[in-house]
Amino acid sequence: MLITDNEFQKLSHFIRQNIGIDLNEKKKNLINSRLGAILENGNFDSFSDYYQYILQDKSGEALDQLIDKITTNHTYFYREKQHYEFLISDVLPYLVQKQKAKKDLRIWSAGCSSGEEPYSIAMVLADFLGNYKAFWDTKILATDISTNVLKKAKEGIYTNENIKNNPQMWNRIYFKPFDDNHSVIVDSIKREVIFRRLNLLSSFNFKKRFHIIFCRNVMIYFDAPTRHKVIRKFYEITEPGGYLFVSHSESLDRGVTSYKYIKPSIYRKEI
Ligand SMILES: C[S@@+](CC[C@H](N)C(=O)[O-])C[C@H]1O[C@@H](n2cnc3c(N)ncnc32)[C@H](O)[C@@H]1O
Repeated sequence: MLITDNEFQKLSHFIRQNIGIDLNEKKKNLINSRLGAILENGNFDSFSDYYQYILQDKSGEALDQLIDKITTNHTYFYREKQHYEFLISDVLPYLVQKQKAKKDLRIWSAGCSSGEEPYSIAMVLADFLGNYKAFWDTKILATDISTNVLKKAKEGIYTNENIKNNPQMWNRIYFKPFDDNHSVIVDSIKREVIFRRLNLLSSFNFKKRFHIIFCRNVMIYFDAPTRHKVIRKFYEITEPGGYLFVSHSESLDRGVTSYKYIKPSIYRKEI
């Protein structure tokens, strides 16, 4: 069963409004392939039936399932390693000095997928602070809209194939064997990451502002007005002197943000 033009209009509008993901005409095949099995297994006669079911389902499960299918969750450890190198060379020395009295750093991985990004940040912090880590509160908030990926992230179990390109030292000290093919993140790193469900389209009700926000490979799926709204919210919730990291394939449109450009994909709220 293939989605009709009219059904595609309705469903893609719903997805843009509720999840932020912008599906243009070219993505019709993606909808057919990603949602085909749900329609078949749920015995829906058409995409219209399925759409009605999502609208009427009060439990939220139908929407969750749609979100899990429609989001792209590809990620890996130490992705775009220049970002981590810049953390070590510039951002952490500055923030650790700035926060030396309070000894807290507030970091947010927004759109964290299955956890590789926030755990990588936690490992970089553990390396950077060394023995001083015990005196610091550097818990990382990691959020995503998809419940599926958050479940995997909390477990912290990855295939050995997944971690083979990590810095080798990390694999020795921050992972332990789980079974023949998998390794699990050690508790000292797991404890450093707090996973929560959060839709970036909803309002951000945080008590304190963040020193570092990573939102990489997430807003590329949004249309420009949605992206601008989310970036404005990030700006509000960034500490003066704090940083926003997007992915190397993204940039913030000048003129729509007050963040200062530092270098490709790295921005800063001025002090
Ligand atoms: C490609 S992954 C990026 C993971 C990681 N940041 C990285 O760069 O490797 C994109 C993630 O954004 C999440 N996402 C998409 N729309 C979202 C929204 N409206 N609110 C929160 N997360 C969203 C998806 O569920 C997915 O896990």
